[in-house]
Amino acid sequence: MPASEWPGVLRRGRELYTRNLRPGERVYGEEFIVEDGVEYRHWDPWRSKLAAYLLNGASRLPFEHPRRVLYLGAAHGTTLSHLSDLLPDAQLFGIEKSGGSFGTFLALARRRPNLFPILADAQLPERYQADVGPVDFLYQDVALRNQANVFAENVGACLSTGGTALLMLKVRSVTQRRPVSAVVTETRTSLRRQGLRVVDQRSLTPFSRDHVALLVAPA
Ligand SMILES: C[S@@+](CC[C@H](N)C(=O)[O-])C[C@H]1O[C@@H](n2cnc3c(N)ncnc32)[C@H](O)[C@@H]1O
Repeated sequence: MPASEWPGVLRRGRELYTRNLRPGERVYGEEFIVEDGVEYRHWDPWRSKLAAYLLNGASRLPFEHPRRVLYLGAAHGTTLSHLSDLLPDAQLFGIEKSGGSFGTFLALARRRPNLFPILADAQLPERYQADVGPVDFLYQDVALRNQANVFAENVGACLSTGGTALLMLKVRSVTQRRPVSAVVTETRTSLRRQGLRVVDQRSLTPFSRDHVALLVAPA
C-alpha cells in the first residue's frame, strides 16, 4: 500500500484516493486509478468534508482502528463509501432522515456489507442507541441550527469511553449574520460545558465555505 500521512489513504499531490472495496464500481462518478494492480477511487474534497479536513492539514485520521462508527447525516453515502473503503472490517452505521437520500444510501449498502443504514432523526439518539452503540468514532454532518447540542447528545448516548467524535459545523445553519469565529467560539464553549474537549479545529475553506471541523475527545 503506497504511503500517506493517513493510513489507508493514497495521496498523489493534492489528490486523495481510497482502495475500492468494490473494484469496478463507482459511487458518485469518481475517477479510478490503478497502482500495483490495485484500484483506488478518487476522494473528492468538494463532495466530502472528511477529505477536505485531511487536505486542510489534519496530521492524522480522526480515528484509530474503530470497530464501530456512527455517522449522522449519511445523505447518499458519499463520504461513508470512502469510510467503507478505509475500514473494511468495521461496522459503519449511517443515520439519515430524508427518505429520498436514504433510498440511494440503502442501494449502496446492499453492495457494501460494512454499511448499516438507519432511517432516523439524529435529534433522537434514543431511537437508535441500542442498535449502534457504543461506537469508537462518531461523525456528524447535518445542517441544523442546534448542531452542537445534537452532537453532544449523540456523543453522550453512543460514544464509547476513549472514542473520538468529529463535528462538521455548518456555521450558516446556526446564523446567517454573525462571524464564523464567533459561532466557533460559542460552539466550543457549549461543547466544553457538556464535557467535550476540542483537540483539533480546522477550517474546511475553500471546499465547504463557512464550515469548521471540530474534533473532540471526552474531557
Ligand atoms: C450535507 S448533507 C451530508 C453529506 C454527507 N455527510 C456526505 O458527505 O456524504 C446533510 C444530510 O443531513 C441530513 N439531515 C438533516 N437533518 C437531519 C436529522 N435531523 N437527522 C438525520 N439526518 C439529517 C440531510 O437530509 C442531508 O442528507
